[in-house]
Amino acid sequence: MHLVAATDEQMGQRDALTYSEWGKLLSPEGYAAREQRLRAHPWSRADMRTWLLCGEDGGVLASCETFRTSSFLRTAGGPLDPGDSFAIASVFTEERLRGHGYATRLMDLLAAELERQPRAHAALLFSDVGPRIYARSGYQALPAWDWHLSPTPGDPRAPVDTLLREDALGPALGRLRQPEVPFFFWPSPAQLDWHLERGRIYVEHLGCSLPPSAGATAGASTILWGLVGRSAELTVLMLDARSPSEGQALLEAARREASRSGLSRVVLWEEPSHAPLLPLLQGEGATRVARDGSLPMVRPLRPGLPLSPLLPAPRGLWV
Ligand SMILES: CC(C)(COP(=O)(O)OP(=O)(O)OC[C@H]1O[C@@H](n2cnc3c(N)ncnc32)[C@H](O)[C@@H]1OP(=O)(O)O)[C@@H](O)C(=O)NCCC(=O)NCCS
Repeated sequence: MHLVAATDEQMGQRDALTYSEWGKLLSPEGYAAREQRLRAHPWSRADMRTWLLCGEDGGVLASCETFRTSSFLRTAGGPLDPGDSFAIASVFTEERLRGHGYATRLMDLLAAELERQPRAHAALLFSDVGPRIYARSGYQALPAWDWHLSPTPGDPRAPVDTLLREDALGPALGRLRQPEVPFFFWPSPAQLDWHLERGRIYVEHLGCSLPPSAGATAGASTILWGLVGRSAELTVLMLDARSPSEGQALLEAARREASRSGLSRVVLWEEPSHAPLLPLLQGEGATRVARDGSLPMVRPLRPGLPLSPLLPAPRGLWV
């Protein structure tokens, strides 16, 4: 068995097979168009690949995708050391081929391939099938708790200093504090826009509108959000709350934006840095739930990579 990077034609062939798994709400043609549109997005064009595990006869046994994402090592007292990490998506084995270890072999060969990249730091994935299969290939699970906040009526501008527009993702991302851990992933503005692109594709199927804002600021605190998939929810992509009260104000704006846009709730992925804010969230219309799917898992791609248990995996990194 060997690993190859798929051609455009092979990617199209995989789309036809993966439709049954990931095509909900879309027709097969709509799903193929979604995949093409997402591949044409600047973040995907920067370095997105589809990988195929092929048998000796060249037949495809399993597939997945990788997206390059920035990551940083904090050197002792020195500057941040940038590198490349790889977010892995859409691991897939056709039903008739399952249970023969093909997905596991694909993950092992892929890790070996990624380890050879000159600036490689780590691989990151979000498992919808629990931790066991990926733990075999060296992935470690991170905590996965979500906050679900009900929409509240009112002007989203009122609790915050500014609402952010989609075209301000770059400067807004620049306001966020980077995590105080020895190694972390950090998304680019194009990467965050890729999530919004998914929302632009799905909005016509959801009976809601695209939120007019992409986030908010309050004092030095910043939140980035969007409609990002096939659920009519306002998803928080990044949240840097410098104080609990500023964090609360940002989330109140999110709840109002969800209400104004006809969305059913706000979803926040809990991060270690949110701890001081959490007591303020408890109450009417806010619940903390174990995440259903999308379990973040990380695998070092170089020896000695310092993986902290406090490593954040914000929703903005999801693929
Ligand atoms: C998950 C998937 C890629 C596994 O492919 P595969 O080639 O059969 O994988 P392997 O043979 O290497 O490993 C199979 C293991 O995955 C486990 N697995 C498969 N689907 C699972 C699920 N929905 N929940 C939990 N475990 C699951 C099997 O139980 C098996 O575990 P075991 O060997 O410990 O009994 C395949 O089932 C698939 O394509 N599923 C649909 C798409 C999907 O959910 N992809 C994963 C996205 S994170």
